[in-house]
Amino acid sequence: MKLYLDTSDIQAVKRISAIFPVSGVTTNPLIVCAGETSLFDLLPALRDAMGGQGTLFAQVISNTVEGMIEDALKLRERVENLVVKVPVTPKGLQAIKELTKQGVPTLATAVYGAAQGFLGVLAGAQYVSPYVSRIDAQGGDGPATVSELQCLLSTHAPEKELVAASFKSPRQALECMLIGCKGITLPVNVFDMFISDPAVFAAVDQFESAWQKKFNKTCL
Ligand code: G3P
Repeated sequence: MKLYLDTSDIQAVKRISAIFPVSGVTTNPLIVCAGETSLFDLLPALRDAMGGQGTLFAQVISNTVEGMIEDALKLRERVENLVVKVPVTPKGLQAIKELTKQGVPTLATAVYGAAQGFLGVLAGAQYVSPYVSRIDAQGGDGPATVSELQCLLSTHAPEKELVAASFKSPRQALECMLIGCKGITLPVNVFDMFISDPAVFAAVDQFESAWQKKFNKTCL
């Protein structure tokens, strides 16, 4: 499975890429607005932070079909191999369909239901992102939606990729991985929570101090 970071924090992408092979970085307008760097400076900086590797995702802003297509082409012109995120609305579906004809790779986003997301895929999107914690927050079941959508993809469109998004806790992400989700994008704080259990550091300290005591050194 693939693990992406959902962030505009260049330093965090650099830090995490150094310790883990992230598959890429996803952004959306809220994430970009939360940072200080303009989108067209941010995207190359994020790619550099991943050592030139990985897939980058950025979202259209316009809410007309023509505008979305224009935004998508502008993004692709400025950033090589970028995947364009398009919300699965009636207009977004049309934009995905047109962009697919033009050979522009898209991610169907703002997905709150499995069938809605699947329509984005059938319209041509290569990737699809259900919003796990937002679905939970409106009384739905985020992981169950992910499971249904992953099942639809595995059955009908195995070459397409699910990238579950909108995580607030490691548990939500773990639940999605357990049900067979093939891709997730995590905010930096959730990624960090996976590897910051104090008990782990205490265990490592314990090994080191036992060795130090016995052999008077902290290496083999
Ligand atoms: O990238 C889209 C998705 O991750 C949204 O997350 O935290 O705004 O629900 P959030």
